[in-house]
Amino acid sequence: MQNQIKILNKINSFNKTISVASDKSLSIRAVLLASQAIGISSISNILESEDVMSTIKSIKKLGIECKKIGNKYKILGYGLNGFDIKKKTTIHAGNSGTFARLILGLLVKTKKIVKLTGDKSLSKRDFSRITEPLKEFGVNIKSKKKSLPIEILGSEFLKPINYLENKGSAQCKSAVMLAALNTPGVTKIKAVSSRDHTEKMFKHLKIPIKIRSRKKFDLIEIQGLYQFDAFDYIIPGDISSSAFFIALTILSHNSRIRIKNVNINKTRIGVVTILKKMNCKIRFKNKKIYKGEEIADIIVENSKNIKGINCPAYLNSSAIDEFLIIFLIAAKAKGISSFKNLGELNKKESPRLNIAVNFLKMLDIKVERKNNDIKIYGNPYLKISKKLHIKNYLKDHRVFMMSCIAALSFIEKGEVIIEDKDSINTSFPSFLNILKQLGAIIK
Ligand code: S3P
Repeated sequence: MQNQIKILNKINSFNKTISVASDKSLSIRAVLLASQAIGISSISNILESEDVMSTIKSIKKLGIECKKIGNKYKILGYGLNGFDIKKKTTIHAGNSGTFARLILGLLVKTKKIVKLTGDKSLSKRDFSRITEPLKEFGVNIKSKKKSLPIEILGSEFLKPINYLENKGSAQCKSAVMLAALNTPGVTKIKAVSSRDHTEKMFKHLKIPIKIRSRKKFDLIEIQGLYQFDAFDYIIPGDISSSAFFIALTILSHNSRIRIKNVNINKTRIGVVTILKKMNCKIRFKNKKIYKGEEIADIIVENSKNIKGINCPAYLNSSAIDEFLIIFLIAAKAKGISSFKNLGELNKKESPRLNIAVNFLKMLDIKVERKNNDIKIYGNPYLKISKKLHIKNYLKDHRVFMMSCIAALSFIEKGEVIIEDKDSINTSFPSFLNILKQLGAIIK
C-alpha cells in the first residue's frame, strides 16, 4: 500500500470548529493507574492510537482485564502490583516512549521476568535515564546496551530513594513516582518542572503526595503502599495535536479555528505562551477544571505580523513536543528567533533538532546552530516553489504532521511529497481527515 501523500496547493481560508485527538499522556496514565486500582475503572474518550493500544495490549498481557463497552474502556484492577504474571512475559511498547518508561515503574515488584521491546525508533532511545533510578530502588534490570530490549525482575525488598530529575523529563519523573507506589516509606524527588499529569492524578486518587514548588525545582514526596480505588476519567483533547492546527491557522490567510475541549495544563501550554510572544492571536474560552486538570476551547486567528522571539529556555519543557511547529512559525516571522538548550529534542522519536535544521534549510531558511542552540532567520515572504520529497527514516509522527502543515501553508507552485503517512497512527489517526474537513486537498 502506498504510504506517501502529495500536496500541490496551499489550503484556502477556513473558519471552522474542530475536535482533535484525545490527550496521549493522560490516556496512557489513566490506563496504567487503573491497572493498579481496586475495582473497575471506566475511562471515556481514550485516544485510540497505536501508543495507547500498545499500553492496553500490554496490561492485558500482564493479566489485567480490559474491555471496551460503548465509548468507555473498563479496566479491572486488583490493587498495587496486581498484575498476574505466571511466567516470563514479553510486552511490546511499539513507538511509545511514555508507555515504555512508565510501565517499568510499575514492574518493580514482579516475581517473573518481564521483557520490554520497542520498534526501531524506540530501540534507539536512552533507557538508562529510567533504569538507573529503578536499580536504586532494588530492582533487577538487564539490557545489553542502554536501550531496549530490557528485562526487568522485581524485588521484594524495595527501598525508597532520593531522586534528582534535572532534564525536565516527565517520563523519568513519572516512572519514579509509579515505582514509589509499590515501595514502603517515602520516595523524595527533586525535579525540574515538567508536565504534572501524574501528580494531578495521584492527588485525585488521594495517593499521599506532597509537592512544594521552588524557583527551579519541584520537591515531591510520595508515601508508598497506599491502595486506591477504581475511578472514572474522561480524557480531553491533546494540546500537542492541537498545535498543528494552531500553526496552520496562524499561517493561513483570513482563517480562524476553534478547537474544542483541550487540556491546557500550565505545564503543557508553552507553545501558546511562545506563539503569543510572537504576536499570534490565540485565546482560551470556556475554561473549566476537571479532576485538577484545566480544560478549554482554543480560539486562533491568522496572524499577519508574526515577529521573532528570543525564547527563554525555561519554557522548553512545557513546549517540548511542539518545537517543530514553533520553528515553522519562526521561519515565517519578521526577524531572528533564537532557541537555547534544546538537547532533549534529539532524544525524541527521531533526532528532531537535527531534522528541523535540515528541514528549514530545505525551505531556504537561514539557520545557525551552535551545539543545542539555534537561530532561525525568519522570512515573512516564505514560499515553497519547487518540488520537495520529505523522507522520514524513523517514521516520526510529528515530523510527518509538521511537513503537512509546512506544505499547506507555504506552497506557491511545485509539489510536496511526504513519506510515512501511517506514522500519524502513533498519536493522531484522524489528522488527515481533519485537514480535509478544513479544505486541504491531499492526494
Ligand atoms: C511525555 C513526556 C515528554 C514528551 C512525551 C510525553 C509524558 O517526554 O516528549 O511525548 O507523557 O510524560 P520526556 O519526559 O522524555 O521529555
